[in-house]
Amino acid sequence: MENGLARTPPMGWNSWNQVRCHGLTQDVVRAAAEAMADNGMREAGYSYIVVDDCYQGGREPGTGRLFSHPGRFPDGMRALGDHIHELGLKFGIYGVPGTRTCANDWDDYPVTGLGSHGHERVDAETWADWGVDYLKYDWCDAHVNAGAVRIPAFTRMRDELARTGRDIVYSISEYGVDSPWLWAGDVANSWRTTQDIDATWASVSWIIDCQADLWAHARPGAWNDPDMLQVGNGEFARDIDANRAHMGMWAMLAAPLMVGTSIPDLDPRLVSILTNPEMIAIDQDPLGRQARRVVHDDQTQVWARDLTGGRIAVALYNPTGSAREIGVGLAQVGAVGSLHVRSVWDRADLGPASAELVSQVPPRGVGLFVLVPRA
Ligand code: GLA
Repeated sequence: MENGLARTPPMGWNSWNQVRCHGLTQDVVRAAAEAMADNGMREAGYSYIVVDDCYQGGREPGTGRLFSHPGRFPDGMRALGDHIHELGLKFGIYGVPGTRTCANDWDDYPVTGLGSHGHERVDAETWADWGVDYLKYDWCDAHVNAGAVRIPAFTRMRDELARTGRDIVYSISEYGVDSPWLWAGDVANSWRTTQDIDATWASVSWIIDCQADLWAHARPGAWNDPDMLQVGNGEFARDIDANRAHMGMWAMLAAPLMVGTSIPDLDPRLVSILTNPEMIAIDQDPLGRQARRVVHDDQTQVWARDLTGGRIAVALYNPTGSAREIGVGLAQVGAVGSLHVRSVWDRADLGPASAELVSQVPPRGVGLFVLVPRA
């Protein structure tokens, strides 16, 4: 939406894929922020430190203001936000439009009454007072527990956030159930397109396939969100090629890049994938055009994304378990004229482009290239 924010996809960290619900503490959040300020990720563009579900302790009687869990967030959310801001980072939080959060339903989170239904104004004001810069507003069956309707419920919080006068990026999530790409561009800065990601190749590759028809709906301020990153987790703990495929495809998709692993424990090889400036430049390209899938056969795929300066990013994507040679004609990715080829992972010029771009791509991997007009 046109609120001046998220002109490029938001980048940062979110607690959920790291600690889920009951492991969330202020120390986990502070450690993520401190490590990000220290390991080059902040300089690479990561900025939002987002505290997902399960920070909540309840509502104050009388005012109805949310407060944080006293055992796990003893210093409160305002102090946490201040610490994040002092590190040169931004502070994100989680809310729901109904009466129950997803962790009430799925993680036996025992504290109830946390939803914003009927508390929209006080919640927006509370979050603004805490210094919040980003809200993840998550559907969680609000139609069942509160009789809520998607567009008016999400629009209500958009308007309450605007009323606070604070710049707050608005990220909504209804899991792609009601085709949010068709209506959320005027409601939010990003919208989830699928059910939750998990740390398996099956999940990541399924989500990539779900994005093929969504490219036309992304633009600066309004992004398809294929969900948070699993780099560093589960099947993505070590496999360099799978991590490159996950990151490279999220960059092609102009996706928000929200890391969900323990930043202090990140393998330096994964930090260097996460901070590859040429991969990030694709994600953050100011044109804001999301990749289209131009080739899709049984085994392999090719995706292309227009960038500023007449450049074109090309992903030769191999979702299979064996190495494949993948090629594409330059005309198929919309390339014209005289171009040279830049390899993003090697950070090297490969010389003049010929009529076809061809590369050996490892199993569960992506070859990522930029076609650059020759001066
Ligand atoms: C849903 C969301 C997740 C996470 C949890 C929190 O499942 O899709 O990203 O926010 O709720 O309970």
